[in-house]
Parts: sequence; structure tokens; C-alpha cells
Amino acid sequence: MSADDLKKQAAARALELVRPGMRLGLGTGSTAKHFVDLLGARVAQGLEVLCVATSEVTQAQAEALAIPMSTLDETPELDLTVDGADELDRELRLIKGGGAALLREKIVATASRRMVVIADDSKLVETLGRYPLPIEVVPFGLEVTRRAVAAAIAASGAAGELTLRTRPDGSTLVTDGGHYILDAHLGRIEKPEALGTALNLIPGVVEHGLFLGIAACAILASSNGLVVLGTIE
Ligand code: 5RP
Repeated sequence: MSADDLKKQAAARALELVRPGMRLGLGTGSTAKHFVDLLGARVAQGLEVLCVATSEVTQAQAEALAIPMSTLDETPELDLTVDGADELDRELRLIKGGGAALLREKIVATASRRMVVIADDSKLVETLGRYPLPIEVVPFGLEVTRRAVAAAIAASGAAGELTLRTRPDGSTLVTDGGHYILDAHLGRIEKPEALGTALNLIPGVVEHGLFLGIAACAILASSNGLVVLGTIE
């Protein structure tokens, strides 16, 4: 079974958590895209939900499927957010932002009563950090912020290169919020909480991709079936 088939299976299980009338946060990425596709099919059959997207890409996908959409200003409390992850551990600590949507993803997830992660089981790790940690920064004073981020990483006991994320054409990637992303190639993050707290204190850092204490559950699809971490309902 391909990784994409597994992603779809995890998305299908998450769809079973959706009840009529729910206010949903819609994630970003290839796994979340499956969830939005499946949700769109249910909406076409008459399911009533109201959704908030975590990126312009997901917004466009949901609108194309005629899923009723809202904003967090109109709908500041959500029942459930379903989103992918780049990496997670057994304590449901996540790295997100591979799709550059970490800021809106974190705002939407924390506005939700529950966040459920959907992924194939290759995303589960013993120690976070194999996937580069995305750190969203303001363009102004980039070098000052880069140095402060490097110092915070070192103070947390981690080490590794920081790269400015670019697009395939070599231009600097700009997020939906107009920011840049520094990717921290750390290999291992032994103290995610300490690193997350230190990054939050840097003025030029808008948000980082460590989602700590946010996800309630993860649905992981493997060739042997689904594994659920945390409490599914
Ligand atoms: C986007 C994200 C995605 O959830 C993450 O990159 C996982 O993506 P995929 O489902 O394509 O593996 O954080 O910012």
C-alpha cells in the first residue's frame, strides 16, 4: 500500500469523528487534503458543517468542493481540527510547518476543542528533530533573528544548521502571513518544551512548528492497520 493510500485511510477514520453541525478546522498538506476531499463528498450528500481553513490552499480546495467556510473572526470556537504533521512522538508532540502553514495551523488548532492528527506511521519518531523544525520569522531584521534563534537552539542543548526556506525557483518562500521560514536541521530535539519557550521569547519569531500539548489524538495508518495514540473521542 502506498503512503498516499495510508494517508487516505487515516483521513477516512477522522471523518467518522465529524458530526452534523460541527465547526471544523481544516488542515494543510497532502494528508489533510484527503480529509477535505472526503468531507466535501459528505457535504455534497447533505452533511452540514462550518469550516475554517489553515491556509489559502486549503481554503481554495474547500471552496471548490462547496464546503461552507467561515473565518475565525466569525467563528472563533471550533469543535474539531483535523490536520497532518511532519513528525510526532508518542506524547503527541508534533513538528508541523513542512507546508509553510504552521502559524495559521497553530491558531486554528488552539481555537479548537480538539485537534486530531492524521498521518501515515512513517511520521512517528522516538525523538523529535529528524524533520527540520520550521520557524516562521518576520523579514525585517532577519539576520538579528537568525542569530537569536541559533543562540536559543544552542541554549536548549540542540545543534544544527539553519536554512532560509526557498521556493523551487530559488526565491525566498513567503508564507500566507507574509513571513519567511527558517528551517532548523537539528536531528534530535531532546528538550522540545525548553526550545519552544526560548523561541517564543524572540521578537522576530512569529511562531515555530513545535505543537506541544495541542493534539489530543493521532490516527496513524500503517500497512497493518490503524493505530490511535491518545483519546479518539
Ligand atoms: C503544513 C503541515 C502539514 O500538516 C505537514 O507538512 C504534513 O504534510 P503531509 O500531510 O503532506 O505529509 O504542517 O504546514
